[in-house]
Amino acid sequence: MCGIVGYVGSQSALEIVMAGLKRLEYRGYDSAGVAVLADGGLAAAKKAGKFVNLEKELTERPLPTGTTGIGHTRWATHGGPTDANAHPHLDNAGRVAVVHNGIIENFACLRAELEERGHELGSETDTEVVAHLLAEEFSACADLAEAMRLVCRRLEGAFTLVAVHADEPDVVVGARRNSPLVVGVGEGEAFLASDVAAFIAHTRSAIELGQDQVVELRRDGVTVTGFDGRPADVRSYRIDWDAAAAEKGGYDYFMLKEIAEQPKAVADTLLGRIDAVGSLTLDEVRISASELREVDKVVIVACGTAFHAGLIAKYAIEHWTRIPCEVELASEFRYRDPILDQQTLVVAISQSGETMDTLMALRHAREQGARVLAICNTNGSTIPRESDAVLYTHAGPEVAVASTKAFLTQLVACYLVALYLGQVRGTKWGDEIHAVVRDLAKIGGEVERVLETMEPVRELARSLAHKNTVLFLGRHVGYPVALEGALKLKELAYMHAEGFAAGELKHGPIALIEDDLPVVVVVPSPRGRSVLHDKIVSNIQEIRARGARTIVIAEEGDEAVVPYADHLIRIPATPTLLQPLVATVPLQVFACELATARGNEVDQPRNLAKSVTVE
Ligand code: F6R
Repeated sequence: MCGIVGYVGSQSALEIVMAGLKRLEYRGYDSAGVAVLADGGLAAAKKAGKFVNLEKELTERPLPTGTTGIGHTRWATHGGPTDANAHPHLDNAGRVAVVHNGIIENFACLRAELEERGHELGSETDTEVVAHLLAEEFSACADLAEAMRLVCRRLEGAFTLVAVHADEPDVVVGARRNSPLVVGVGEGEAFLASDVAAFIAHTRSAIELGQDQVVELRRDGVTVTGFDGRPADVRSYRIDWDAAAAEKGGYDYFMLKEIAEQPKAVADTLLGRIDAVGSLTLDEVRISASELREVDKVVIVACGTAFHAGLIAKYAIEHWTRIPCEVELASEFRYRDPILDQQTLVVAISQSGETMDTLMALRHAREQGARVLAICNTNGSTIPRESDAVLYTHAGPEVAVASTKAFLTQLVACYLVALYLGQVRGTKWGDEIHAVVRDLAKIGGEVERVLETMEPVRELARSLAHKNTVLFLGRHVGYPVALEGALKLKELAYMHAEGFAAGELKHGPIALIEDDLPVVVVVPSPRGRSVLHDKIVSNIQEIRARGARTIVIAEEGDEAVVPYADHLIRIPATPTLLQPLVATVPLQVFACELATARGNEVDQPRNLAKSVTVE
């Protein structure tokens, strides 16, 4: 939540910061603002609402040109989305500017202290206190990095802070506790950002910052210390995402592009993980085979769409490894005193690698002695860094707020983990593993085929744009797919959407069925556990008899559903456990098209932000 950019170098800071903010707008779009150091002073502009409002403001009232600057795109926590609450926040003399992501929990008492000392604070934010505290400390030590260290020691909560001071014109200082912040190192220039997308057009050399660290950026180098002032060890890495991957590439929305990229994302996530004979080589999973043989329970923690990937993974893990698997919302996990020990493998799934609830859950798991394996899409992010092992999904940058390609790659990674556990523990024969791997290798092509047949789905979505409610039903792995279909519709189309286990219908939800209510049903393969298939065909008949308009997602060749489907969406035949990889795709397209038809912002749905870095 909230996007932050900082720059020092020889180019126009305003241009670089604005271009970076544009790429980070998915992190929050309640307001945007910038500050540049120029002509011995500090100039700032900020505007409530979308980034375009700031662009307009800068056209009407341009800032002077400078080569040091910071910027912010906000997802509001403390104080509404107004101009006054927009970042950057300045001290009373207008010499310090600060931007912030996170929550400063003790801001109220810091504010009271400052007011007692005569400071005037003009916003309702928790951030503004930092600008005033920095100004005070700087006036004593004349060193912004030192002032930042002193201030950070007084702050409670989770925060990323980036600041400039007019008296140190070629310096940008950042600080990090729990919220994301990455350093980019170029030739005679340096960058700070919440996400590498903000600077990959300029450099691919990055440095990960650890917890409780302060970084000082100058043209000729970067210095990192702890909050205590001691030099810190840092890890440099090369960014392998290319700049074009973070562009729309001719699509109207990032979401459309990301849906279309799924075949490649799935294939890339398999790449290099299967050897010539079809066995798995997950060298990155730095937990030894002997330790994995000791595992007696798997616990998956995640949020939102990643949680749905976890729910599907449970079916594969239990079926292929016979290890009990629990799946828990990360936000609930640590508050219920879960039973964990050294034999528990906790799998934390996260696209961003920064979701605070998931991070807190994995920390709790490690404190209890459990091993943590992260499944993550973002190199250098906090969740993989704090885990014992990581399996990266290779979806490439996901910019649209609604997760699509990351979800499919999370599923692939979960299947790989499940098979790998089966391989090292011997619960699956080699030839069985090879057979699943062969099916997985074909899935990218099957997703491609689904994408080629989506026009009727789009047409159907447009015809339902006036509806208020859509229900989703599924059984077995189709149940989490139904939950994911409903989540996509809620977040994008702002419609009431619910996913149900079809078997639960008669225990309550069937009362919701009324005339012409659209109900999407994900039908399991008739070739798999056909009892499931038969039961869901009965469920379709039951709801149709009560007036529902049935939208049936069923595999090619499944003729049993035809008489009961008002709309039939065909997907390729796949093995039962892999079906979510193809069945989810029409639901993504359906939600995207409905949102467009209702005039909603597809890439930036209201009230949401891509990366949820506060609890
Ligand atoms: C829904 C969506 C969210 C995320 C959730 C977890 O489309 O994008 O529900 O899946 O916030 O985010 P990550 O995977 O970054 O931990």
